[in-house]
Amino acid sequence: MSKYSIAWMPGDGIGNDVMEATRIVLDTMKLDAEYVPCDIGWEFWCKEGNPLPDRSIKVLNSTTCGLFGAITSKPQDEAKEELSPELKGKGLVYFSPIVKLRQMFNLHTNIRPCKSYPGNPLNYRGTAIANPSGGDVMIDQVVFRENTEGSYGGVEFFPLPEPVYTALCANPKMKPWKDKGLDTVALSTRIVSVAGCTNICRQAFEYAKKTGRKRVTLVEKPNVLRETGGLMTRIFRKLAEEYKGAGIWADEANIDAICMWMFKNPQDYSVIVAENMFGDIVSDLCAGLVGGLGFAPSGNMGDKYAVFEPTHGSAPKYAGQYKVNPIAMLLTAKMMLEWLKETEKATRLETAIARVIKEGKVRTYDMGGKSSTMDVAKEIARCAVG
Ligand code: NAI
Ligand code: MG
Repeated sequence: MSKYSIAWMPGDGIGNDVMEATRIVLDTMKLDAEYVPCDIGWEFWCKEGNPLPDRSIKVLNSTTCGLFGAITSKPQDEAKEELSPELKGKGLVYFSPIVKLRQMFNLHTNIRPCKSYPGNPLNYRGTAIANPSGGDVMIDQVVFRENTEGSYGGVEFFPLPEPVYTALCANPKMKPWKDKGLDTVALSTRIVSVAGCTNICRQAFEYAKKTGRKRVTLVEKPNVLRETGGLMTRIFRKLAEEYKGAGIWADEANIDAICMWMFKNPQDYSVIVAENMFGDIVSDLCAGLVGGLGFAPSGNMGDKYAVFEPTHGSAPKYAGQYKVNPIAMLLTAKMMLEWLKETEKATRLETAIARVIKEGKVRTYDMGGKSSTMDVAKEIARCAVG
């Protein structure tokens, strides 16, 4: 029997390409694991009316952790349109399987590291004014994104149920919409809890303490989102006091402002903590600063289970072409190895990735090269064991 069993979820589009590439690397490195196929994604929505079938939940429940490629998601009307004919008109409603999975397994913490590797032609150089030397700006940031609540908590209405509409209309701020009718407004909620905010902030501070990082930045918008942003900010400040003794500087930025500051001075940021949607936004920004989605890994962490996935989606236009960069997925595998406490293998994999980036002989299109997804994976695998 293998030491680990890993739920293997390629999903849709390039999810398949990058997972196949990752398997080459894990097999070459002889990870003692069994990979259990696990169905998830658009294909299963269209064929079965369920993008996360029950059999997949069984697999997830019986494995050590999950490795996930990417899925395709589409708006509700398109989703209904693409259902196979015998499933149409049955009232099936599409849901994002990855959001469901995060909630179902309480994968409360999404960790998204973004790091510049020397020699990457896509490394950020900033502006001539901000960076007169013109050299690469070296970035090493880790985003802690709350993963189960906030704007992506999935509590949404259209049309509004009568009791919800009536309750809302009791608030004088509803005046512009009042009396226009249930079916003239849509509602997406932003629900955050004391437990959720405390957990994500604590995870971020603990990580900083453990790794010797000196700055933790909260990304919010409490001046406008007074209640939810306010709660998060109060909790962040309270925890900041606790970690002062560890020499950690805690500061705050609004989501809009950080898009500007991060662009100007990305090297100044280290650990970033945010609610679900703001974390999603800021982590794509960070990804852009270290070379784009081809370099951005992530881990959805719970107390006992974790699912690792690159930040990118299924990029349908490149599906099955073995053209995209597997590095985001391989850095994701490195995070999984760390979680499994396979520290030596994790380090070896990251060193191999850094070496292949630096040598620059084997590169996918996004890095200006012509190599395939598999060529890059094979070269990294060779370096990881050589
Ligand atoms: P996307 O991330 O799939 O692709 C956007 C563009 O980024 C691509 O066209 C490509 O130019 C580039 N790109 C992405 N990954 C790359 C890689 N590994 N190497 C090189 N270039 C890469 O985002 P898009 O186009 O907005 O969404 C496509 C589908 O993916 C949608 O259905 C969307 O809902 C879904 N999606 C799924 C996610 C997930 O599975 N967690 C996350 C984001 C989007
Ligand atoms: Mg995103």
